[in-house]
This record gives sequence, structure tokens and C-alpha cells, in this order.
Amino acid sequence: MSAIRPVLVVAGVRAGGTGVATAAAFARKGYSLALISRGAEDLKALEEELKAAGNDATAFPVPSYSATSISSVFQSIHARYPSPQYAIRAALYNASHSIRKPFLDITLADFHAAQETIVEGSFAFAQEVIPIFKRNEIDVDTGKRGFIIFTGSTTSIRGNTTTSAAAPAKWGMRALSQSLAKEFGPYNIHVAHAVIDGVINTPFSRSRFHDPPNWVENEDIRLNAEDIAKAYVYLAEQPRSAWTWELDLRPAHEKW
Ligand SMILES: *[C@@H]1O[C@H](CO)[C@@H](O)[C@H](O)[C@H]1NC(C)=O
Ligand SMILES: *[C@@H]1O[C@H](CO)[C@@H](O)[C@H](O)[C@H]1NC(C)=O
Repeated sequence: MSAIRPVLVVAGVRAGGTGVATAAAFARKGYSLALISRGAEDLKALEEELKAAGNDATAFPVPSYSATSISSVFQSIHARYPSPQYAIRAALYNASHSIRKPFLDITLADFHAAQETIVEGSFAFAQEVIPIFKRNEIDVDTGKRGFIIFTGSTTSIRGNTTTSAAAPAKWGMRALSQSLAKEFGPYNIHVAHAVIDGVINTPFSRSRFHDPPNWVENEDIRLNAEDIAKAYVYLAEQPRSAWTWELDLRPAHEKW
């Protein structure tokens, strides 16, 4: 390993979720962590938790995932993790906007909120990260200059009765990810998309679904954020002769 410290930037972190689990998993590989999220207080608590476990983590709260917010938060990230001591080598866009309503109940404001967080945010995030990757040295083990993954969901590939605001945004982000994979593969930048086809066991989803019975104990019926993080680390470490663009993950008993 070179003396330059690698940094993972994660957008979209929530207690017990994929963002935090991925951050912890990359920290074990020697990465410093830049954590972007809304909700400054919760984010600070997650920063403290990761630091208490011996990791180098910094919280970067944002008011929204608009392109303006993303561009200004990256200024702060560069100030905290300056080149050449640090290099952003991995990035996860996990911010999402969950909205399930019948089409005729969806307002233009709902539509724009989903578009902003999911499509505009991921576009702006990639525009910050990819120029940095292009300047990175190629890693000798993986053959890559950088790795960026976008977290999608079932609605990234399938519409349903209440997904007319969420699905257009999620399909849009998936299309962005595929376009970038093709354009930047030749620069040895690995772009991936994950379809998370099931509900993740987090405090947030447990309260949203009113603590479904057996949920915590039964790993057959929901996903663990730590197991998703393992898959993300696996993708990040794939050697350049066999890269995955898209991976789908679902619990064993998911009806799909
Ligand atoms: C991270 O991605 C998962 C899977 O799509 C999603 O359920 C979760 O809400 C996202 N986290 C945030 C903070 O948006
Ligand atoms: C699609 O919507 C129906 C009705 O709300 C629901 O029962 C079903 O589980 C949904 N399918 C998926 C794949 O989310």
C-alpha cells in the first residue's frame, strides 16, 4: 500500500443501515470515512460511534441532495481530507427518497423531491468523484483508479401500483450508473449498481413496518446491512478482468 490514505465517501447514512455498515467495512480495509447525510444530529452520533470503534470518520451534514449542496459539501470534504495525503478511492451513493402513493395522489412536489434526492444528487455526486478518480494512480491489486456504487432497489427495475414517483427516479439513477460504467471503464474506474430487492433490517424499517414478527431473528425474510456491505467490499476488490456492473441481493425467502 502507498502512504496515501484512501477515503470512502458515503452519501445517505442512517443508524443500522447500508451506508454505516459499508463505512465500517471499508474502515476495516484502512479507509478514512466521509459521511454525508441529512439530519446533522443523527449523523454526528454515527460519526462518534465509528470513531469510538477506532476509525477515522467525519460527518458532513447536508440540507438536501441538490447539486448545489453536493458541490459545497465536497469543498468541505477536500478541506478535511486534502490531497496528496488523502485520496478518495471509493464512493457509495445510498441516498434515497421513499414514496409510495397511488399515481393520482402524487403531487409535482413529491415527484421533484424523489428526482432531486435520487437522480440530481447521484449525478452531482458522480461529477465530484469521477474527476478525482481520473487523477488517482491505478491500484496494483485491483487495477482500478476508483470504485463508485449506487444503491438501487426493486423499483430500479420494476414499477408497481404505488411507485410512479419512486420508479422513474430509481430507473434514472440506474441508467446513469450504466452510462458511467461504459464511459469510465476505459479509465479503469469501476462503476456498479446494486438492486436491493427486499427490506433491510434497520430500526427505521422496523418502525415503518410496525415490527414485523420474527423479523430480527429470521435472516430468511429480510436483509442485513452488514451482509450488503460485504457484497460492496467484494465488488470494490474485484480484479479488472472480471468486473460486475450490476448485482442484485435479496433474502432467501423473498417472493420475487
Ligand atoms: C440506503 O439504501 C437502502 C436500499 O435502497 C434504502 O433502503 C435506504 O433508505 C438508503 N438510506 C438512506 C439514508 O437513504
Ligand atoms: C406490488 O404491489 C402490490 C400491491 O401493493 C404488493 O402486494 C406487491 O408486494 C408489490 N410487489 C413488489 C415486487 O413490490
